[in-house]
Amino acid sequence: MQDKPHNTVLIVGCGYIGRRMAAVLQAQNIPVTGCVRSRQSAARLDSRGIHSLVVDLDRPAAKPGWAGAFDEVFYFAPPPAQGEQDPRMQAFLQALDKGMPPRRIVYISTSAVYGDCQGAWISELQPVNPATSRGQRRLHAERCLMSWCDEHGVQWTLLRVPGIYGPEKLPLARLREGTPVLREQDSPYTNRIHADDLVAVCIAAMRSTRTNTIYNVSDGHPGNMTDYFFKVADAAGLPRPPTVSRAAAQQVLSAGMLSFLQDSRRMSNAKMLDELQVAHRHCNCRSATDWTVSGRCASRDYA
Ligand SMILES: NC(=O)c1ccc[n+]([C@@H]2O[C@H](COP(=O)([O-])OP(=O)(O)OC[C@H]3O[C@@H](n4cnc5c(N)ncnc54)[C@H](OP(=O)(O)O)[C@@H]3O)[C@@H](O)[C@H]2O)c1
Repeated sequence: MQDKPHNTVLIVGCGYIGRRMAAVLQAQNIPVTGCVRSRQSAARLDSRGIHSLVVDLDRPAAKPGWAGAFDEVFYFAPPPAQGEQDPRMQAFLQALDKGMPPRRIVYISTSAVYGDCQGAWISELQPVNPATSRGQRRLHAERCLMSWCDEHGVQWTLLRVPGIYGPEKLPLARLREGTPVLREQDSPYTNRIHADDLVAVCIAAMRSTRTNTIYNVSDGHPGNMTDYFFKVADAAGLPRPPTVSRAAAQQVLSAGMLSFLQDSRRMSNAKMLDELQVAHRHCNCRSATDWTVSGRCASRDYA
């Protein structure tokens, strides 16, 4: 069997998080290949010294075997916007079939796989029960990945990630438009993670001796969505958005936003902190411009 180049990294879906992670790995002299769908995104990667691969996972037949020569794979591509399955993940796994399997795959999934937990604190032992098609697609992707990896002796790690915040990832346009939010007493619990802390978790998950396992990823400070919008508005010097009742929200909010407001849960990040030994640099998005640096933030401190 042909030797695989040591320490080769592929990021499938090398967008916002992928580019931030590539910068961290490049600073450690680790070469990175980023897979994107469009030539425009590929040019963006090339300009940063990230080797680019253009593959549309919705039309995968074009390049069989493209994914099969890497040691470490981070899979960050989202499922399609419709349906209850993730054919992109299936296409990626079929491409792996035609090459040499990687050592490990780290997958960014979402916390939507848990569905509504009525505000309860949940660990990774919480049964999955996605209420939205968005959550169902992710669960399908998780199951396809685990089953392929187990069959091929490839290590896997699933990261169940909630709302990502960070530079260029703030709802400023929405705030400028004055789009309403749910009044605070109706607003469900949501969880968040800063983009750079998520990058650190992804890298730690790839390097950990623990494998074939699932981590809840969060900054340990669940809050409600309305409070988040208020904090960002205050920090950005924008007016706070108007609030509406849940009934009125059905008329004025987008289907996408309503799907995010359907679930309420507080995610414990205890397993992630204990096993991956990551120290978060950002907690509780207190300021949109001067992100809080508060060291190790554990959800159990707030339980
Ligand atoms: N935003 C959140 O709060 C949140 C929460 C939990 C999980 N996540 C998930 O975290 C992951 C990383 O997020 P992100 O912000 O880095 O996402 P992002 O900036 O939107 O990047 C997604 C990447 O996937 C690529 N992609 C999309 N469709 C593809 C296809 N058919 N074939 C090949 N590549 C395709 C895109 O390529 P092009 O640029 O060429 O289109 C892009 O590089 C995503 O899966 C996201 O859904 C996000």
